[in-house]
Amino acid sequence: MSAELQKLATEIALQAGELIVRRRREGVSIAASKSSAEDVVTHADRESENLIRSLIADARPGDGFYGEESDATGSTTGITWVVDPIDGTVNYLYDIPNYAVSIAVIEGDPNPHTWTALAATVTNPAAGETFSAARGMGATLNGTKIQANTDVVLSLALVGTGFAYSAERRIWQAGIVQQLIGSVRDIRRMGSAELDLCSVACGRLDAYYERGLNPWDHAAGVLIAEEAGARVGGLNGARASRDFTLATAADLFEPLHELLIEAGAEASVLG
Ligand code: IPD
Repeated sequence: MSAELQKLATEIALQAGELIVRRRREGVSIAASKSSAEDVVTHADRESENLIRSLIADARPGDGFYGEESDATGSTTGITWVVDPIDGTVNYLYDIPNYAVSIAVIEGDPNPHTWTALAATVTNPAAGETFSAARGMGATLNGTKIQANTDVVLSLALVGTGFAYSAERRIWQAGIVQQLIGSVRDIRRMGSAELDLCSVACGRLDAYYERGLNPWDHAAGVLIAEEAGARVGGLNGARASRDFTLATAADLFEPLHELLIEAGAEASVLG
C-alpha cells in the first residue's frame, strides 16, 4: 500500500514540477501576500495545488487533502495528502533553482503530533532531483538509495536552518543562529525546508532545524530523512512539528539538541 501511494505521489509531483518550471520560464507573478508582505503566493503556487488536488481526487476520491494554498477536505479512507505546491516560493520568485513540489501521504488526522506518514515525494524540478520514501522501505534520490551521514561531531557539523516571514520571529531565529555558529562547522539557509530535510537525508547537510514550520513544509521531508537513517524530532522528546523540527545524522541529535536548548530554542515566539 505505501509503495503504491509513493508511486502515485511521485507521478503527481513530477507533473506539478513540470508545470511550475514551465510557468517559471514564462515569468512569475505574485497573486497575493499572506501573513506579511514577504510571504507571497504566486499564480503558479495556486495552479500547481489545483493540479495536484484534481489528480489526487481522480485517483483516490475518498482521501483527504491538506495543502498550503486551498481549504482542506476531510478523508473517508483515513488517508490524507499533505501538499506544498511550491516549497521555497521566494527562491521560485527570484529564479534560484532550489524550490520543490512536496507531497506526503499520511494516515490519521492531519496533525504532525499524531499522524503516521506512509509515503512521500519531494521533487526539485529545476535541478532534476526527486527524493522519495515509503514507510519501512528506505529513501531514494532519482531512484537510488540514499543514506544520511553518520559519525558527525558537533564542531564539524554543517547545519541548515530557515527563517519565518514575520520580522519579529526572524530576529529571534537569528539570535539562535548567533549562539550556534561558533560551535559548528557552518550554517546554511537555502530557502526550502523540504529540500533541507532531503539534504540531511542524502548527506548534503549534517543537520537541519527550524521553528514555526507548517505541516506541509516538513511532512514529506521528515519521512524521507527518517527512512534515510537520520534522527528526526522536536525538542525534549516531542515529535517534529511547528513547535520545532530537528533532523540530524543520528548520533548528532543529542549534542545539537543540547546546544539548541542552551541557545534558548525553547522560548515561545510563535504567538
Ligand atoms: C518556506 C520555506 C523556507 C522556510 C519557511 C517556509 P514556502 O516555505 O520552506 O525555507 O524557512 O519557514 O515557510 O513559503 O516557501 O512554502
